[in-house]
Amino acid sequence: MFYHKYRPKFFREVVGQEIVVKILQNFLKRDSIPHGYLFAGEKGTGKTSVARIYAKALNCLHLKENEPCGECLVCRLFQENKFLDIVEIDAASHRKIDDIRNLQEHIGFRPLQGKYKVFIIDEAHSLTEEAANALLKTLEEPPTHAIFILATTEPTRIIPTILSRVQRLDFRRISLPKIVAKLKLIAENEGFAYEEPALYLIAEEAGGSLRDAETLLEKIALSLNPHTILSENLVAEFLGHLSLIKILEFLELISKRKINESLNFLEKIYAQGFDLNLFLRSLLKVIRQLMFLKIHPEYGKHLETEKPEEIIDRMKKINENFSLDDLKKLSFLLFEADSYLKKEPPSLLLPIELALIEYFEVK
Ligand SMILES: Nc1ncnc2c1ncn2[C@@H]1O[C@H](COP(=O)(O)OP(=O)(O)OP(=O)(O)O)[C@@H](O)[C@H]1O
Ligand SMILES: [Mg+2]
Ligand SMILES: [Zn+2]
Repeated sequence: MFYHKYRPKFFREVVGQEIVVKILQNFLKRDSIPHGYLFAGEKGTGKTSVARIYAKALNCLHLKENEPCGECLVCRLFQENKFLDIVEIDAASHRKIDDIRNLQEHIGFRPLQGKYKVFIIDEAHSLTEEAANALLKTLEEPPTHAIFILATTEPTRIIPTILSRVQRLDFRRISLPKIVAKLKLIAENEGFAYEEPALYLIAEEAGGSLRDAETLLEKIALSLNPHTILSENLVAEFLGHLSLIKILEFLELISKRKINESLNFLEKIYAQGFDLNLFLRSLLKVIRQLMFLKIHPEYGKHLETEKPEEIIDRMKKINENFSLDDLKKLSFLLFEADSYLKKEPPSLLLPIELALIEYFEVK
């Protein structure tokens, strides 16, 4: 699986999370390091990966520029998954007090192969209150050889007494261009041809989770015939919704008041079997972005972190033919269409067509 194969093994391979990495590397330089950490952040953003790299670095015999050397005995054992002084516990399935008591017995033993025994407690928010309190006792007086890394996607559910005992590090969602860069690396390494917008669409679908992006890329790659180029259309088809490029094409037609062409476009996507609810949702998302681009020039800078430059230029061009009122009117009409679309029995294309006809004020 891609997400196993391409799990970062060194700090330098971690995508984004620069602040977290910097802080941990600074700890490595110090004589005394904190014993408790909380890695907070959304799924698939690198919490487990970074915890393992940190554990490896803490135990590495020849740390090189705050990176594990990758060559010493400890690093080699680590890379072969044979290092015994790292214990990973999934708190979601070991959430009871007895589980923590078992863990506490473990903690007393000195490390076998390294300097530190590192306990990674995943989904730490799911511990019962009793279990969390037992863990707290350990965090208050940890043995010098024990390091605890709690990971959670829901930091607000961690009890305050634990929060005050650990160093909290926040993992951010990963920006589109950074996700795309890693997907490119994987695609090149796996030897399949791609078009860049296809990777953007995958990244967009993943919503900031690199693991989700890698998994999606793998699924789509498996569905490709040999020698097919991974194109934006293929990805869109796989996902069952239209690509951003297609959505922009549609909005371009509307902005230029090309009534027939817009209605034809709708017919076509309907005939191709795209889900109309999904279509409307993506459409409204883009209209919202167009509105923000108009109202707030700084918004363009924000968009640059998630979209390629050509796309933003194209959006600005489309905006030249839309007034703010146009965009407002269009969104209201499409919202209305959306509520009709969700009715049973489904009313098919008609609500969207009506919205367009209303928008163009065809008499
Ligand atoms: N910041 C990152 N840099 C590089 N790869 C990453 C990053 N985040 C996630 N990945 C990729 O996704 C996979 C899963 O990441 P990881 O297990 O570290 O995420 P997580 O934050 O622990 O997620 P969860 O909350 O679901 O446990 C990694 O093996 C790697 O392929
Ligand atoms: Mg994890
Ligand atoms: Zn090493």
